[in-house]
Amino acid sequence: MANQIDLKHKVAVVTGAARGFGLAIAERFLESGARVSLWDMDKRALDDAERSLKAKGKTGQIVIDVTDEVAVEEAVSQTADELGPIDILVNNAGIAGPNRKTWEYTPGEFRRILEVNLTSAFICSAAIAPGMKERGYGRIINMSSVAGKEGNPNAAPYSISKAGMITLTKSLAKELADSNVLVNCVTPAAGRTDILKQMTPEHIAYMVSKIPMARLVEPKEVAALVAWLASEECSFSTGATFDISGGRSTY
Ligand SMILES: NC(=O)c1ccc[n+]([C@@H]2O[C@H](COP(=O)([O-])OP(=O)(O)OC[C@H]3O[C@@H](n4cnc5c(N)ncnc54)[C@H](O)[C@@H]3O)[C@@H](O)[C@H]2O)c1
Repeated sequence: MANQIDLKHKVAVVTGAARGFGLAIAERFLESGARVSLWDMDKRALDDAERSLKAKGKTGQIVIDVTDEVAVEEAVSQTADELGPIDILVNNAGIAGPNRKTWEYTPGEFRRILEVNLTSAFICSAAIAPGMKERGYGRIINMSSVAGKEGNPNAAPYSISKAGMITLTKSLAKELADSNVLVNCVTPAAGRTDILKQMTPEHIAYMVSKIPMARLVEPKEVAALVAWLASEECSFSTGATFDISGGRSTY
């Protein structure tokens, strides 16, 4: 039985909510009483996700590429119309990209991974944080990764994008610290989701070999941490990086 987290009367946006960590976070938010807008570019997976969550509470769905700033502006208005002003934003959408040596990535691949994993979080935060500040309440949670602290070999653009998420969290948090809008990030180790399909078996084995607890993190474990960070009870932590890496991170 999960601990109770109170998100009643809160409206949350979860990007990349159609599967994996995002879906688990959306589910946990609904169980905690929030209304949740599911943002993802994969329409079919989004339909499946919404169906699976139907009994849990009130959801909306927006098919969107979160790197498109015009679409994000429209999605913010649509979410406000359907569910109410946004109290919680989880910048979770992301891709691994291929595994190769740093010098083997094309500039196009490098740019796209940074665009999807990092620029999208900037775009969504820039579109949503000012409204939170004006209303005097908000919680933003950025999905980083242990790769952003460690710099995984054969995953430079991914690792760089996730290091950027840690720093975006710190800068934005300081700018919003006096307005009850708290910004934090989480750094999971490798998790049991579809993102593993983008990686080579060697890369997955490398990541698991680095985890003292010797297993993958489950999406619901990440969701439990994110749910607390999204709640009012998280009240004196901002700009912080919350580890969930089975002991891999030592700082
Ligand atoms: N699973 C892991 O091992 C792991 C570990 C640490 C961090 N993370 C991070 O957690 C987040 C979620 O990962 P996951 O494992 O659940 O991945 P996943 O591949 O299972 O799900 C990611 C979702 O994001 C969506 N998405 C991708 N690009 C998008 C875009 N431009 N616009 C809108 N939606 C987009 C996809 O359609 C997909 O539904 C990512 O940021 C990932 O980097 C994952």
